[in-house]
Amino acid sequence: VAAGCGGSEEPDLAKGKQLFTQRCGACHELADAGTKGTIGPNLDESFKQAITDGLGRSTVEGVVSEQIAFPQGGQMPANLVEGDDRKAVAGYVADVVGKGGGGGTTGSANGSQGGEAKANAKNEVEIPTDPSGQLRFEFKSASAKPGKVTLLSKNDSPVPHDISLKGGGVDVKGDQVKDGGTSKVATGVKAGKYTFYCSVPGHEQGGMKGTLTVK
Ligand code: HEC
Repeated sequence: VAAGCGGSEEPDLAKGKQLFTQRCGACHELADAGTKGTIGPNLDESFKQAITDGLGRSTVEGVVSEQIAFPQGGQMPANLVEGDDRKAVAGYVADVVGKGGGGGTTGSANGSQGGEAKANAKNEVEIPTDPSGQLRFEFKSASAKPGKVTLLSKNDSPVPHDISLKGGGVDVKGDQVKDGGTSKVATGVKAGKYTFYCSVPGHEQGGMKGTLTVK
């Protein structure tokens, strides 16, 4: 079916990877793209058997393309990418599934996670989200002083996120933002440990959380 419209142009794999990271990565794990979404199946796992069975990557491309246009199961939104973009994403997924870890093309972005976000003089802590749309913040830990603390989370990705804080009697949620918006939450805290996270369903479970240490 996919071969219908006039020809054999090759899918644009680089574009496919970019689109996959932005539109699909929040829900799907795919090693090459470095995405860790857990709402949908791990696509390396989904197609491992098919590849081993020798079904061929063009079959996989067709399956992915069909799933994008006519999602089975009812949880995945239809037509997240269309036309050439759909072809690019399907071609990219078919090219990389089951191949394991990516070539580290986005290594620098991955490397930025893990440091500690520190409060400024006003006890404001900036904890941006991953700009490529993966389910994580740029920091896994943060620190602040007791008193009123403000958490700010800029979200450059098209996937909606917020910043929320819980633990120690605190339970506050920021507004959901996307496309460069900043979610903000402010509350009083005492010395101790709290969890900052994204309250969009599935995102905390997917890895969007970290520890705020107040001392
Ligand atoms: C909102 C979350 C979400 C997004 C975004 C999403 N998917 Fe899915 N996807 C799912 C879920 C959940 C399933 C399992 C079937 C179902 O319940 O709908 C699924 C199933 C699939 C399957 C079938 C896998 C299998 O094991 O049968 C493929 C292929 C797939 N998605 C590809 C994609 C691609 C490519 C994109 C980006 C264009 C994408 N998905 C975006 C949630 C998502």
